[in-house]
Amino acid sequence: MTADQQKKAAALAALDYVESGMKVGLGTGSTARHFITALAAKVKSGLDVMAVPTSRATRDLAHSLGIPLTDLDKHPFLDLTVDGADEFDGDFHLMKGGGGALLLEKIVASSSRRMIVIADESKKVDALGRFPLPVEVVSFGVSATAWKIERVLKICGLDGKLTLRRRDNKPFITDTGNAIIDVAIGRIPEPERLSNLLNIVPGVVDNGLFIGICGIVLMGSKDGVKTFKKS
Ligand code: A5P
Repeated sequence: MTADQQKKAAALAALDYVESGMKVGLGTGSTARHFITALAAKVKSGLDVMAVPTSRATRDLAHSLGIPLTDLDKHPFLDLTVDGADEFDGDFHLMKGGGGALLLEKIVASSSRRMIVIADESKKVDALGRFPLPVEVVSFGVSATAWKIERVLKICGLDGKLTLRRRDNKPFITDTGNAIIDVAIGRIPEPERLSNLLNIVPGVVDNGLFIGICGIVLMGSKDGVKTFKKS
């Protein structure tokens, strides 16, 4: 099974958790895309759901496939969010934001009774941090904010290399108009502490560590889809 086949298998398994009448958060990325496509097929055959997208790309895809959309102002409490992840560990902590949608993904997932992560087996790690941590920052004063992020890393005893994310030779701008600093750390022993300290830096909007949000991981693997459930 290729990584993409594993992603698709996990996405299809997530459909079992969707019931008619649910309000569903839709994640962003290549794995979430498989879920959205499969969900749209169910909607075509009569499943009654309304969905809240976590990015423009997801909104456009869901709309083009005929999934009824809503937003958190009309429906602040969702039943379920299904999203991918860049990494997950044994404590259901996640690293997200590789696609730049971490802020809306965190708002939507934390507004949901249940968050299910769908992933291929390459996303399972012993400790988060192999993937650079995306930190969403206000564009004003990026260098000053970066300096403060370095101070936070020092306080946590970590050494990280900060890179302002770019796309097409320009700073990458998120759907909400912010910039992203990717922080290559290597291994994050205390993700909750790091996340909390980063989020009190003026200029930091949020970071890609999702702590205490995800309860179920469906992981595609060579031996089929494995289900990890938080007890
Ligand atoms: C988007 O910002 C991310 O959080 C994605 O959910 C994450 O990067 C996983 O993407 P893939 O499903 O494409 O691997």
